[in-house]
Amino acid sequence: EKGGYDYFMLKEIAEQPKAVADTLLGRIGTDGRLTLDEVRIEDRVLRAVDKVVIVACGTAFHAGMIAKYAIEHWTRVPCEVELASEFRYRDPILDQQTLVIAISQSGETMDTLMALRHAREQGAKVLAICNTNGSTIPRESDAVLYTHAGPEVAVASTKAFLTQLVACYLVALYLGQVRGTKWGDEINEVIRQLADAPRQVQQVLGTMEPVRELARSLAGASSVLFLGRHVGYPVALEGALKLKELAYMHAEGFAAGELKHGPIALIEPGLPVVVVVPSPRGRSVLHDKIVSNIQEIRARGARTIVIAEEGDEAVAPYADHLIRIPVAPTLLQPLVSTVPLQVFACELATAKGHEVDQPRNLAKSVTVE
Ligand code: F6R
Repeated sequence: EKGGYDYFMLKEIAEQPKAVADTLLGRIGTDGRLTLDEVRIEDRVLRAVDKVVIVACGTAFHAGMIAKYAIEHWTRVPCEVELASEFRYRDPILDQQTLVIAISQSGETMDTLMALRHAREQGAKVLAICNTNGSTIPRESDAVLYTHAGPEVAVASTKAFLTQLVACYLVALYLGQVRGTKWGDEINEVIRQLADAPRQVQQVLGTMEPVRELARSLAGASSVLFLGRHVGYPVALEGALKLKELAYMHAEGFAAGELKHGPIALIEPGLPVVVVVPSPRGRSVLHDKIVSNIQEIRARGARTIVIAEEGDEAVAPYADHLIRIPVAPTLLQPLVSTVPLQVFACELATAKGHEVDQPRNLAKSVTVE
């Protein structure tokens, strides 16, 4: 049942191109327009939405953080993203014009379920992004967009995460389409690139041997830091979470702009720091900033592991290890930049002798608080 792989996690990482393709299937028309038939929230209601609030836990929360950048950029609707466990215990301001998006692989996460109940009580419409047909969260939501990742068995989420991202992009683009905002060449180009994502993910998977080798060489490290900016920041958080849960190592993700506000004090000679570099072609200011961040940490002795686009030569002189990813629009980059981090954590944990499918103390779905 592991399809020839030693672990479900390896199988699920390898299945990502298909999972992403399945989540896109039938949702992008030949004219580039989206049809999300399952989103049974009337266009009239979607046009009236004046705020989006995303609630989720763990890896799904990281997908939500990335969705915020996409939703605000493509639709100009303000978007908040909050941990479901925080949201449900405060007094959030919601009304009929709020669209709440609950993201959950299992559809059974207690905190996310409670958050959506709380939202509906206040009249907000809830759209679930979920991987498990007929689970509680979609049943209790106004509408659901299923991710078609197939069953995810390994505790650490991989293919569910990539498909959550795809679903979030589709929702963001659909909102833009319905509301008529920002519809133009940029959006058409993004849709074209999104359709190409399965091929790009496959391409990344084909270049992972050096990442595995690097991961094995770091099995003795006591800590690994992850830095990113913009959508690379949640990717950094996700890379750190994977390493914590699988390798039981101290790992932390930071927004690179926060370095000088504290984290740079952690940098010491030999400390591995993974940096997710935004495309130099997109918002180039982001790229310039991160190149100086890499220089800063390297000057303090960090061992820099740089994830950067093909053809990005500016980072090369400062990278102790350079991991190449395909060229993608800024907002879609997480679909390719996350993959090396999954492989890295899985391989490092395996090198330490850990059972990656069933990390200690963790359960696949957290149905208690
Ligand atoms: C991490 C991981 C968890 C889940 C979180 C939410 O690899 O799998 O952080 O993402 O427990 O679970 P779902 O998506 O089922 O609500």
